[in-house]
Amino acid sequence: MEDALLKIKEVSKHFGGVYAVNSVSLDINHGGICGLVGPNGSGKTTLFNTVLGLHKPDHGEIYFHNEYISHLPPYKIYERGLVNAFQIPRLFFNLSVMDNMLVAARGQEGDRLLNSLFLRNRWQKQEKGLIEEALDILEFIELEPWAFTPAAELSGGQRKLLEIGRALMARPRLLLLDEPAAGINPVLGKKIFQKLEALSTNGMALFIVEHRLEILFEYATWVYVMDKGKIAIAGQPQAIVDNPDFYAIYLGEE
Ligand SMILES: Nc1ncnc2c1ncn2[C@@H]1O[C@H](COP(=O)(O)OP(=O)(O)OP(=O)(O)O)[C@@H](O)[C@H]1O
Ligand SMILES: [Mg+2]
Repeated sequence: MEDALLKIKEVSKHFGGVYAVNSVSLDINHGGICGLVGPNGSGKTTLFNTVLGLHKPDHGEIYFHNEYISHLPPYKIYERGLVNAFQIPRLFFNLSVMDNMLVAARGQEGDRLLNSLFLRNRWQKQEKGLIEEALDILEFIELEPWAFTPAAELSGGQRKLLEIGRALMARPRLLLLDEPAAGINPVLGKKIFQKLEALSTNGMALFIVEHRLEILFEYATWVYVMDKGKIAIAGQPQAIVDNPDFYAIYLGEE
């Protein structure tokens, strides 16, 4: 049997007296869309940030591809292919869509903003390959017609797609998304999830926090429900919506 892609073992993270994440254990397997839901303040973003190396866990261990990663700085975790689409650096609004894609490439000269902006010659060798790769991704997320448009001119939904596109430049093995459908219309929200589903059937694993449950549950293969820093329920979307505890958790929110 193959080991999990991401293994979280009894991880806790507290801020002062608040246990934002309280002894969470879970596995993310290769491929598929795994959802993480729960009321506001239940610890979802804190768990993501701990996985990404932005917070050091107070207790517990995290393994990615069987490698212990809890002690690694965020860029090293990113280099291993564990990527968050809505992480730093944010979009550069005065740069073109294409340049936003190029500065996001992982483990290449295009990696570094300074290189990409001021030392063009040095990375020109690689640039052609990167541009082709970026165009492929832009085609996939349907932003190719805007490749040379400043990012500032994109709609809110297109900016979300561009952030996902930039994350894809890193060739992630596991892509973490914190609320990809927030603040955009339901049609575009669904479209984003359709794109994510296509990525997952190509072998990429996705771990997604989303408050728009009706969209997430249509695409997720597995869902973890967090409540007060703990994983309260886990299962396939249908089993979650059939579980009365699920509603109790959300009603307890008030
Ligand atoms: N940097 C921080 N310093 C202090 N407390 C924090 C910090 N980050 C989060 N918390 C607290 O930890 C708890 C979990 O917050 P977190 O942001 O992880 O929840 P969430 O599930 O992502 O919520 P939401 O759905 O609203 O985004 C909350 O009580 C929050 O106030
Ligand atoms: Mg959050």
